[in-house]
Amino acid sequence: MTSKSEPGQYTSDTRHSSLKNVLSEDVGINERISHYDTWAKTYDQDMEVYGFTGPQIAAEYMKRYFTAINSSYLDCGSGTGLLGIHIKELGYTDFHALDASSVSLEKAKSCKAYTNFIQEFITTGKLSIETDTYDGLVCCGCFAPGHLEPDCVEDWCRIVKPDGVVIIVMNQKWLSQEPAYNKGKLEGAFQKRVDEGKWELVVREQKDGYFNKDVGEVFVFKIK
Ligand SMILES: C[S@@+](CC[C@H](N)C(=O)[O-])C[C@H]1O[C@@H](n2cnc3c(N)ncnc32)[C@H](O)[C@@H]1O
Repeated sequence: MTSKSEPGQYTSDTRHSSLKNVLSEDVGINERISHYDTWAKTYDQDMEVYGFTGPQIAAEYMKRYFTAINSSYLDCGSGTGLLGIHIKELGYTDFHALDASSVSLEKAKSCKAYTNFIQEFITTGKLSIETDTYDGLVCCGCFAPGHLEPDCVEDWCRIVKPDGVVIIVMNQKWLSQEPAYNKGKLEGAFQKRVDEGKWELVVREQKDGYFNKDVGEVFVFKIK
């Protein structure tokens, strides 16, 4: 049941408006990230209420493909660290979190799964990270309206070492419903790097129950 918002009182209206704010078509990336900053405190609980299982799905694929615990891995768009919570038991010794939201990154520190924190915008061709830094990169839930540009994967092909693995987990519906990704724009950006010999597709799978009843789409690429 939806209750009426009172000043200072947290309600399901607050939860819905947080989600609406971060997915809004009417805001630019800076405002979107400040909405994430505002949401960080209750994001984890709210996503649980929404039935968001992206981090569990991403953790499943990390366990499958990121098997060396002492290798270097990046959670690209880590947010508050939900993935870290689900993967902590593996004890990765060099697992970095990157996000533009400083408040989310601060929250991600508390799960004690990450060993380094990078506050940075993911924009095409502009990541400050050196070439061939990581053995694996995982991105969960960040291909969403107004979030990442399709061509940001160019940087990922650069910063992940040859034979390293990139895992992308996203809501399947954005492949057809988000204008920046639909009509093959996002899949085309992925395929372009296949055609250019930068990475190869290892697996593409669908997972039920990604966000309530929405389906999750998982892409796994191997860097060449
Ligand atoms: C839906 S959340 C997903 C967070 C986390 N991966 C999870 O599964 O809970 C999207 C995250 O992407 C970050 N983000 C969105 N656009 C970004 C950008 N262009 N650069 C860096 N971070 C971005 C937001 O700050 C937010 O933390």
